[in-house]
Amino acid sequence: MSNSQPTINQTDLMLRVSNINVYYGESHILRNVDLSIPSGQMVCLIGRNGVGKTTFLKTIMGLLKSRTGEIFFQDRPISKLTPDKRARMGIGYVPQGREIIPRVSVKDNLLLGLEAQPKGRKGNESIPEEIFELFPVLKTMLSRMGGDLSGGQQQQLAIARALMGKPRLLVLDEPTEGIQPSIIIEIESAVKRIIEATGISVLLVEQHLHFVRQADKYYAMQKGGIVASGSTEELTQEVIQQFLAV
Ligand SMILES: Nc1ncnc2c1ncn2[C@@H]1O[C@H](COP(=O)(O)OP(=O)(O)OP(=O)(O)O)[C@@H](O)[C@H]1O
Ligand SMILES: [Mg+2]
Repeated sequence: MSNSQPTINQTDLMLRVSNINVYYGESHILRNVDLSIPSGQMVCLIGRNGVGKTTFLKTIMGLLKSRTGEIFFQDRPISKLTPDKRARMGIGYVPQGREIIPRVSVKDNLLLGLEAQPKGRKGNESIPEEIFELFPVLKTMLSRMGGDLSGGQQQQLAIARALMGKPRLLVLDEPTEGIQPSIIIEIESAVKRIIEATGISVLLVEQHLHFVRQADKYYAMQKGGIVASGSTEELTQEVIQQFLAV
């Protein structure tokens, strides 16, 4: 062992994305995107409508293919893996618009999240109490249909469903979109508690400034490319006005 100072190396990265280029048919959407998420940190991707944020998250999840580059999850290349494999490796995804199954009960929506566990669903299926500690409202609504919940409740359900798979990285696409302010605060504090309690990493796409500021690091996207990045403490009014739809 050398007695030099410990340095940050790649094993400290939960996710590393390098040189991603994604197309929808002939339209070039993502351009040479590089991004990394240190273990245990929350990284926020900001950018105005239509710049490619969701396209980027779908590429990480394996729902879209990149023509170039590589994605490393805990140092392992995952670009060739199916979305299902990536989920089982520990990447939990909460899509934009939540995608709760409307005619299925809250309980069964939650149990569907177990599919993402490393070994899939087992026989003895129950919902851990921590889920209800984070989102108490869900406990009172287990037998309701997913589609009967309010937008804020559905968002909490979507995050809870992703947590059922015990992810190491939680990917959240605009979790406060279309949600009333009091619930935004609840969702924000639940995400912070999740990080504190479990040490997982978070990749957040978000427009709500207060939430953006909770992240450790930000990346700003414009026309499918990363044009600025840094600590969220350095987020100036100028950057915010340029990249957030506020
Ligand atoms: N299935 C698709 N086929 C073709 N083009 C698409 C498709 N989905 C998105 N696009 C285009 O790709 C670009 C990036 O879209 P994307 O949804 O990634 O943006 P976004 O940053 O998530 O926007 P928002 O803030 O509105 O959610 C947009 O110009 C959009 O019109
Ligand atoms: Mg989007």
